[in-house]
Amino acid sequence: MRIRRTPALVTGLVAASLALAACSNGGSTTDPSSPAGGDAAEQTEVEVFTWWASGSEKLGLDALVSVFDTQHPNVEFINGAVAGGAGSAAKDLLQSRLQANDPPDTFQAHAGAELTDYINAGQIEDIANLFDEFGLRNAFPADLVDRLTVDGKIYSVPSNIHRANVVWANPTVITEAGLDPEATYASLDEWFTAFDTIQAAGFTPLSVATTWTQVHLLETVLLAELGVSTYNGLWDGTTDWAGAEVTGALEAFEKAMSYTNTDRDGLDWPDATQQVMDGQAAFNVMGDWAVAAFEEAGKAAGTDFTYFPVPGTDGVFDFLADSFTLPVGAPHPDGAKAWLETVGSLEGQVAFNKAKGSIPARTDADPAEFSEYQQTAIESFGSDQIVSSLAHGAATPIAALNAISDATSKFTTGGSDLATFQSELAAAMG
Ligand code: GAL
Repeated sequence: MRIRRTPALVTGLVAASLALAACSNGGSTTDPSSPAGGDAAEQTEVEVFTWWASGSEKLGLDALVSVFDTQHPNVEFINGAVAGGAGSAAKDLLQSRLQANDPPDTFQAHAGAELTDYINAGQIEDIANLFDEFGLRNAFPADLVDRLTVDGKIYSVPSNIHRANVVWANPTVITEAGLDPEATYASLDEWFTAFDTIQAAGFTPLSVATTWTQVHLLETVLLAELGVSTYNGLWDGTTDWAGAEVTGALEAFEKAMSYTNTDRDGLDWPDATQQVMDGQAAFNVMGDWAVAAFEEAGKAAGTDFTYFPVPGTDGVFDFLADSFTLPVGAPHPDGAKAWLETVGSLEGQVAFNKAKGSIPARTDADPAEFSEYQQTAIESFGSDQIVSSLAHGAATPIAALNAISDATSKFTTGGSDLATFQSELAAAMG
């Protein structure tokens, strides 16, 4: 989908008055040679490739675009969003475009191992100079900048930080099933016991959707069952994927899947979250983009829905960050640089993250500007142990994630047994 939208402000008259305003400010804000699409820069455009195509995700993108239009009225935003949660369709399309030397001007990618793929393929530019130009070197947590850096080069500007290991719950369903809606569960086993009661009362205990959401569930089950250091070892080679601990965790995953909705494979994440909103399901494990969907539907935290870390993962923040790149051969690099400037700006991050459910990657945003849920996420990010998300590009390169996704889908659709599943996962990471 490519939607062309001309910013309302772009007229010769407005451009002229902006240039005048810049002069009356001492002229220091405008450098005609600036690559960042400054006020006096030439009219250009930017195709921004994401998978934030609809619903609450599109609202997040819209919020960022409105700051962009104000900061860069001379750059036309072209929406290159491709529908499909977690980039399930976008990433393949992006790959074919990059291979055909037809890159968008900038694309969404996850900080971490996913970025390494594009770097190794020579598909994205080093933008360390933009970090200097936009004053971003100290704007983000050092750990995050590390994940964006390879061999001293920085390859993208992070827009946010999402937490993956969150349960979204419907307290009415839980109460109707005869359970305490405020109960907490120390382990997956305790949670499964509650699932039995919820199922007996006629509700779906746990809603899930298509393959990537099942991989998302899998990563949180691995984290809950293995603990932080063994989970981390899955990605750095120090945990044996073929070992007994992983077998135990996969058994827990199999059990969790047995409590899920049978229509799952035809759904994407908003549908699974909707089942909780509608009172069809009690729980959904989803990244905290889900909070934006609850808010969009007018649901109130605490009464209409509750949230807590996936049982067994309290004190751990399963992390991912969206970030934006400058592809090699981008047709409108000045437009892309203008976009990256807005993505990295305080104003852009506050507007975007308020709508998206994530928290700013910048450390200077005021927590009071954000929702109650987001304030808990800001606090957890500051104090919890941080681990990398599998389903969202932080932990593994794309090829490994694809192989893990194929093995998961085969297993959950009855095409393999647990032993085969485990050996396919081991092979994927081998
Ligand atoms: C993630 C992405 C989030 C959100 C989610 C669901 O991969 O980082 O921003 O969009 O997919 O589509």
